[in-house]
Amino acid sequence: MAAEIKVVPDNTLNSEAAQEFQRAAQSAVAGQGRFAVALSGGNTPRAVFSLLAQQHSADLPWDRIHIFFGDERYVPPDHPESNYRMANEALLSRVRIPAENVHRFRTELDPESAAKDYETQLQTFFREPGQSPPRFDLVMLGLGEDGHTASLFPGTSAPNETTRFVVAVWVEKFKMFRLTLTLPVLNHSAEVLFLAAGPSKAGILKEVLSRPAAALPAQKVQPTGGRLLWLVDQSAARLLQVRSQV
Ligand code: 6PG
Repeated sequence: MAAEIKVVPDNTLNSEAAQEFQRAAQSAVAGQGRFAVALSGGNTPRAVFSLLAQQHSADLPWDRIHIFFGDERYVPPDHPESNYRMANEALLSRVRIPAENVHRFRTELDPESAAKDYETQLQTFFREPGQSPPRFDLVMLGLGEDGHTASLFPGTSAPNETTRFVVAVWVEKFKMFRLTLTLPVLNHSAEVLFLAAGPSKAGILKEVLSRPAAALPAQKVQPTGGRLLWLVDQSAARLLQVRSQV
């Protein structure tokens, strides 16, 4: 399925993303009684999560929503750099979601054990037959200026993993382990929503969306039976040849 690119005015990206989340959640719950979503980390989604808490705390079926994480920094869950902590502060602590519906990486384990533990959490929840990857209803992803997404960093083994669903990877530039879902999982999703905002992403966004060879990790995200939507603001899209859609 070809990627969709939606360019929106800078100050509307967060609300557009929150509406995409709401739409996907309501559709999944209506269709199969639950919504399984993997959240992205970093800075971009924080404001989206806050909007979801402010504007959708009452109109989303939080008891049917299961929150996972696309990746995690190998830090304690209360560490300032933790993606779980960010999502918990911005969203999860502000909506009535059962604690058992939040599936975080257990970074209190060693990196490899945490990766294996998360893979077990996925297999227990999704119960896919055989070795089929879990199928998220929605995976939210960001775009790093080096073309990484989740914690699939160029120059590491993580983007080349074709068997495991979760890996721990040492990222030299951060001098830190990261934990991440792998491409077999991302590309088995029903929907992938990339968010890119701000002028600092303009160069990498153009490279990712216009360079034909899928060399960068973000380019390797091509859901085989799912929707791929790039929701970007005008500042990030200023080097693209597409007009704002709203
Ligand atoms: C992380 C994210 C990472 C992020 C990009 C963009 O753990 O940092 O998963 O992939 O989405 O680095 O980050 P910003 O939104 O902060 O630019």
